[in-house]
Amino acid sequence: MRIKLQWKLTAIFCLLAVFILAAAYTYFNSHLKSFLLRDIESNLKKELILSKDYLESEFSRQPAAAGSAALADRIGADLGVRVTIIAPDGIVLGDSEVKKEDLPKLENHLGRPEVQQALKEGFGASQRYSYTLKKYMLYNAAVVGKDKPAAILRLVIPVAKVAEFESGMQKILAVGVIMVFFASLILSFLISMAVTRPLANISSAAKAMASGDFSRKIFNVSRDEIGDLAATLNYMSDEIKAKIEKVRSGEAKLETVLSGMVEGVIVTDAKGKIILANPSLRKLFFIDTAPEGKTPLEVVRNSAVQNIVDRVLKGGQRIAAEEISVSSPEEKSIKVSGVAIMKENQVDGAIFVFHDITELRRLEKVRQDFVANVSHELRTPLSSIKGYSETLMDGVPKAEERQEFLGIIYRESDRLAKLIDDLLDLSKIESGKMAMVFMPVGIAPVVKRSAGVLEKSARDKSIKVEFNIPEGLPKVMADENRLSQVFLNLLDNAIKYTPEGGSVKVSVFPQDKYLQVDVTDTGVGIPESDLPRVFERFYRVDKARSRQLGGTGLGLSIVKHIVQSHGGQVWVKSEACHGSTFSFTVPKA
Ligand SMILES: Nc1ncnc2c1ncn2[C@@H]1O[C@H](COP(=O)(O)OP(=O)(O)O)[C@@H](O)[C@H]1O
Ligand SMILES: [Mg+2]
Repeated sequence: MRIKLQWKLTAIFCLLAVFILAAAYTYFNSHLKSFLLRDIESNLKKELILSKDYLESEFSRQPAAAGSAALADRIGADLGVRVTIIAPDGIVLGDSEVKKEDLPKLENHLGRPEVQQALKEGFGASQRYSYTLKKYMLYNAAVVGKDKPAAILRLVIPVAKVAEFESGMQKILAVGVIMVFFASLILSFLISMAVTRPLANISSAAKAMASGDFSRKIFNVSRDEIGDLAATLNYMSDEIKAKIEKVRSGEAKLETVLSGMVEGVIVTDAKGKIILANPSLRKLFFIDTAPEGKTPLEVVRNSAVQNIVDRVLKGGQRIAAEEISVSSPEEKSIKVSGVAIMKENQVDGAIFVFHDITELRRLEKVRQDFVANVSHELRTPLSSIKGYSETLMDGVPKAEERQEFLGIIYRESDRLAKLIDDLLDLSKIESGKMAMVFMPVGIAPVVKRSAGVLEKSARDKSIKVEFNIPEGLPKVMADENRLSQVFLNLLDNAIKYTPEGGSVKVSVFPQDKYLQVDVTDTGVGIPESDLPRVFERFYRVDKARSRQLGGTGLGLSIVKHIVQSHGGQVWVKSEACHGSTFSFTVPKA
């Protein structure tokens, strides 16, 4: 149970007050009776002495026996006590509480202890039960007379008077004690409030700090230990606030760096649970749940990755790097590097960086393929040139054979030259070194001129070339020579891959900000499986046929690059045995 400090202090003060008051009360109470008794006794004694003096002066004027009864009455009335005057032989001469005529009935008082003591010592006292008055009484007696005793004076008061006094005093004492108690109750409440208020202030400010509110300051505190505490807390609050801000800004920087990174990053704790994974990593592995607190295997679902993590965290290998391949949901090559975070010579966690090198590997492969392809393409014509020239050098007898060989050598070297031209074109376009001059060009004349170049080969195969080019088409923004290269390649293919008697049609029509060109033929077509690859370098559906027809396999690749550098697109639709349509777009001028 929680009790406020103020109430505790109040309770302690009150308990203290109760103890002190109780002790004081018991002490006074136990001593009150004897104190009162002593007081009364000494008073009685003084009264006795005064009365004795008075009696002595009275007795010098008249004999003791004569006026004693009246004197006893008078003194008794004056002092409010019982007064007895006794002759030295014990006969009662006067008593304030006994009528004069009843005096002779009283027994002889000589035997009373106080009388005996007075006769011996001059003063006597006794406390005992009075059968006359039926009460406990206090008796004091003294001898009257200077030289020889004239009489004995006795003053008597009831002990009950002492008790009366006592209970009166007790009441006053009790009331006093209760009043003091209530006063100390109020006082202790006020004191403890004064003591605890600044503490309550400090405590609420500290609570605010704990919940992250550092704007609270503690004001108006005294210059003592509590004041020091408040000042220290204020200082601490400022320090913590500054430190937190520093940490936050550091975190924000780290966050920016991590989320801006292209590489995926995972940070794990010493047990291998993920503490942090950046957005690139989620993208890389298509993670849509929160990875924190899970193992890399659960998140990435790749045992090779978990292997590296285990090696770094448990295998004692501080730095690890490995290339892994991921097959689902996409084929990817990823380079994983991991490094352990050390703390006091122990592994405290690790950082893993995932670098997507799929594109790099693809490009490498493209280059390797390209080199292989080029060598292969060059070797075929070169070996036949070499073979035939060797034969010729050995001396071929027949003139017509010699002529035929020379023809082959010429054709092959022509193919080589074409191949090299195409390769040079392609590399120039790809590297952006081909100088292109874009200007508004009318498309119809370019189409006609290109068709004119191929007119002979079309006529040889009796292929009909048609045009569907409306009048008044807008001009396009293009390099005229490159555009005609595109048409030449597309028309050349269309005529090459169309059997005798077929037809080729060129249509041009506007499409948004572009003009679209369709080159349609009724030729052999391209099987669906080959369609996505026909724009690749050296890719040919039927190698033998292409070579036989003098193709290099680079035409469509050049077309694609030229169209793209014009800001257009190229695509093909085809059905095997039914013909193909190659389409591309060029932006209007
Ligand atoms: N109009 C077409 N009809 C059928 N196949 C075609 C057509 N155009 C291109 N192809 C196919 O695409 C391949 C690549 O064409 P291209 O790059 O021009 O090389 P080449 O013409 O030197 O063979 C050709 O080998 C051929 O198989
Ligand atoms: Mg071609």
